[in-house]
Amino acid sequence: MTARVETMKRMRVKEALLNESIGQKVKLTGWVRTRRDSKGGFSFIELNDGSSMKSVQVLAESALPNYESEILNANIGSSIEVIGEVVASPGKGQTTEVKAESVKVVGFADPATYPLQKKGTSFEFLRSIAHLRPRTNTFGAIARVRNEICRSIHNFFQSRGFIYVHTPIITASDCEGAGQMFRVTSFDLLNVPRKEGSAEIDVEQDFFGRATHLTVSGQLEGEAYATALMNIYTFGPTFRAENSNTSRHLAEFWMVEPEMAFCDLEGNMECAEEFLKTIFTDVLSNCSDDMSFFNERIDKTVIETLKHIVESDFVRLPYTEAVEILEKSGQNFEFPVQWGIDLQSEHERYLTEQKFKKPVIVFDYPKDIKAFYMRLNDDGRTVRAMDVLVPKVGEIIGGSQREERLDILTERMKGCGLDPEEYWWYLDLRRFGTVPHAGFGLGLERTVQFVTGMGNIRDVIPFPRTPKSADF
Ligand code: 4AD
Ligand code: MG
Repeated sequence: MTARVETMKRMRVKEALLNESIGQKVKLTGWVRTRRDSKGGFSFIELNDGSSMKSVQVLAESALPNYESEILNANIGSSIEVIGEVVASPGKGQTTEVKAESVKVVGFADPATYPLQKKGTSFEFLRSIAHLRPRTNTFGAIARVRNEICRSIHNFFQSRGFIYVHTPIITASDCEGAGQMFRVTSFDLLNVPRKEGSAEIDVEQDFFGRATHLTVSGQLEGEAYATALMNIYTFGPTFRAENSNTSRHLAEFWMVEPEMAFCDLEGNMECAEEFLKTIFTDVLSNCSDDMSFFNERIDKTVIETLKHIVESDFVRLPYTEAVEILEKSGQNFEFPVQWGIDLQSEHERYLTEQKFKKPVIVFDYPKDIKAFYMRLNDDGRTVRAMDVLVPKVGEIIGGSQREERLDILTERMKGCGLDPEEYWWYLDLRRFGTVPHAGFGLGLERTVQFVTGMGNIRDVIPFPRTPKSADF
């Protein structure tokens, strides 16, 4: 005897919504978004499985054996398994629906206690149920767009021959020199060993035999690989203990950091511009339903803004000129502008939203407000730094050409209060076969924020970590 051929196909909702699927017998699984019971003796179940913004409508007739006992109790949030045929939908607003042969309730959700009953719940409330918010339209769409951005990032670099390098998360060096690091220790905090006869902590007794922290950036280690493999990128979580409770800062965020050998600031700017345009293009073409949703519900300008950016050239503006523009702007800034200050969010937004209405790459910043590794210009007071600024979000990329001259780098370190001995291996990269090189860091969450138009960075990472908050 030959085995019966199983013609039923396991399908995701996204596929069941296509006209091509009409006539197929399918098995669908997912969660109930809504259920409407008709007096005529059937129910419509909106089934969603996260594969797309849209749900598929399942028609369940009262003739099904478990109709009264189970289907009428399959409330919002219940998980179900449906076997049925994809048919053309007579209803408005959808082309297909599924006529159920069986509906199995896998897990009930009690309507009295399930928190996602109402539509239009606030983002603040949803943050308090971060484990359930991916079941909403908004957070499902954010997860899919974030995924597309990551795919695009890897595609961009892989298709150009960049090598993906994993840099350590636990580190002994402070890349940005800003002292915003989380300490990593295995000490018993109630009994921290001290050096003999002193209050100073004896780090030699700690796990690594020295002070260690969570990395703020993989750049320094990335440079070691770029000066061997030419073009590399890192992509991983980074940590900053800066106490800024803003809508654009997280204590744990993801950063992409390409590093290119035999490359100067010009090449760095070109790469950054092409990179951002590629990401935006990919999201527009591969997440059109989700982007339409953001455009309708979150920010009516997102699609237009992304399209405009893909088609236009970024502005390239030396810091000194940026300051002049800001000084002459006639704006009443909270933080007054003068040469030497770090640009604040309000200044960045003025440049991108009002003055140029597109991304602006500000470069050649004063050396005193930038990290030690940036290449010193001949004027002796600016460095080859660049920040890419975009409307609303402000700084999305920070980068620079690196100081490849051993003597100047050593001096800069001392000037920044860093001990060159501690960075002996980093200086070796200049001692042996040094080359001009450059790179940048793109904040993944700022990118997701910009693309989706979401106002708060806490809503574009699944489980945000911010001052006084590390739930879930
Ligand atoms: O400008 P940053 O500090 O640059 C670096 O870390 C360099 N080492 C990068 C490099 O040249 N390889 O950070 C880079 C980007 C910022 O432009 C921003 O998008 C993001 O990382 N970022 C943050 N995102 C969320 N929360 C924070 N607290 C962030 N701090 C920086
Ligand atoms: Mg920066």
